[in-house]
Amino acid sequence: MAFIVLVAALLALFVHLITKKHRFYSIYNLPPGDLGIPVIGQTFSLLHSLRRNTDDQWFRTRIKKYGLVSKMSVLGSPTVLLAGPAANHFIFTNDSLALTQTRALRSLLGRSILTMNGDDLKQMRSALQGYLRPEMVRRYVGKMDEEVRRQIKLNWVVCETVSVLPMARRLTLAVICSVVFGQEAGTIIEALAADFQLLGDAILSFPVNIPFTRFGRGMRSSAKIRKAIKRIAQEKDELVLQERHDVASFPDFITYMLILRSQGAHSLTLEDIVDNVMGIIIGAHGTTSTLITFMIRHLTNEPDVLAKITEEQDEIADNKGTGDVLTLEDVSRMKYTWKAAMETLRIVPPVFGSFRTAAKDIKYQGYDIPKGWKVFAAQSITHLDSRFFNDPTKFDPTRFDNRSSIPPYSFLPFGGGPRMCPGTEFARVETMVAMHYLVTQFRWKLCFKEETYKKDPKLTPVFGLPVELEWRRPPSAADAWNALYIHSG
Ligand code: HEM
Ligand SMILES: *[C@@H]1O[C@H](CO)[C@@H](O)[C@H](O)[C@H]1NC(C)=O
Ligand SMILES: *[C@@H]1O[C@H](CO)[C@@H](O)[C@H](O)[C@H]1NC(C)=O
Repeated sequence: MAFIVLVAALLALFVHLITKKHRFYSIYNLPPGDLGIPVIGQTFSLLHSLRRNTDDQWFRTRIKKYGLVSKMSVLGSPTVLLAGPAANHFIFTNDSLALTQTRALRSLLGRSILTMNGDDLKQMRSALQGYLRPEMVRRYVGKMDEEVRRQIKLNWVVCETVSVLPMARRLTLAVICSVVFGQEAGTIIEALAADFQLLGDAILSFPVNIPFTRFGRGMRSSAKIRKAIKRIAQEKDELVLQERHDVASFPDFITYMLILRSQGAHSLTLEDIVDNVMGIIIGAHGTTSTLITFMIRHLTNEPDVLAKITEEQDEIADNKGTGDVLTLEDVSRMKYTWKAAMETLRIVPPVFGSFRTAAKDIKYQGYDIPKGWKVFAAQSITHLDSRFFNDPTKFDPTRFDNRSSIPPYSFLPFGGGPRMCPGTEFARVETMVAMHYLVTQFRWKLCFKEETYKKDPKLTPVFGLPVELEWRRPPSAADAWNALYIHSG
């Protein structure tokens, strides 16, 4: 009993202190909405709706109650929820709003592009954009093609049922690692695939470093990955300094960053490069694998869309000799397939929203947003609004036939403004190459008609989307043999 009274008294004191802090805000004209229970606010309610994949209703209920600008409190910070295209424009372009990362992410990834600012950020962004620009991706399509085919042979050809999500993850991890590490990619994936998974899983976790928690495991994996990448970077740095790296071929990303550094093009340290490599691998593979997984998922309900994609892909395949790799020209012919991918990104955006922090007191639509407050916009708010997308739950790739019929800042799967995703072209080409080989070779049926989904924080089918595979075109004898050989040897 005494214990309960003590707890109640402490709680009352706590509430008093917090509300005192909130009274301080009365000099501001704050947006409507309540901040909920001190510190915790709406955190659990929002996380719960994410886990149940009902966050879209959660946001809509708040918007209905409070309007397009409202305040709430999540993950320990007062946060202004903004809704609509004008709000998206504000969030992505206003220079008084800084990209925000969770404390967990800062601890896990160190000083990467996601957490840098000022001059370092400028240098890193421009180097990365240079590496991922379309002319560079063009030189890389053949390598992507090779990697995708190898993954399909290893993990899809030999099985009657395949869990799509883990296999798509393995595929996208292999592709990004081959770009980042070059020759060493195979060994890295072998040694660290499980650690990349644990690191990715920890990003939205509670940042207290205790063993056996999600975050604790993530930190252990992070240290292991950092050490392995650092060793590789040091070896590559030796080659660059002795000018023994191979400039004629396409440089891996680490070598590219080290060459730029040796030329004085940037002043980032080797440690900075290592942390950025980790950030890029995490940013690149979870997102693209979510896209591939949900494209496959949606196509099981859309026989007409699948037929049109198949027609487009068969025509491309028929114009190539066996063994010829896809080129960027082939990828640019996959127009309808890309529209189906964009439709998937509209309904299931892999990045569900964006957080920013007010760098100073700012005003938005007459309301004050105090310095240090967070600002948040969810992509689904406009992606699933019938004013911008007629019949928004319908899967219809032809919406993208006329891009100018889509209002600006209502479709933002890759974000916008100066922090827009630099990997957009890379993700497009990778997804198209993967879909080419999957659609031309296989047909698939869901093993569970009623599989449920959670956001964790990316949308995830709880069983990983197992499907039964059927050959559309039987494998060549050589492929079947290779697959068997790889698996038994
Ligand atoms: C379908 C795939 C992808 C989606 C949907 C996606 C989405 C996004 C979004 C929405 C942002 C901006 C977040 C914000 O402004 O709050 C972002 C940033 C970023 N993305 Fe992607 N991305 C994808 C693939 C990739 C790939 C393949 C790479 C690398 C090769 C990549 C690297 C990055 C990096 C480094 C950033 C941070 C940029 C910065 O902070 O300035 N992404 N991505
Ligand atoms: C950012 O927002 C502030 C406050 O609303 C406004 O005064 C400023 O002009 C905006 N800046 C840009 C670049 O839009
Ligand atoms: C595309 O959409 C815009 C805006 O709705 C419209 O003005 C234009 O006529 C459309 N173009 C075509 C070719 O349908």
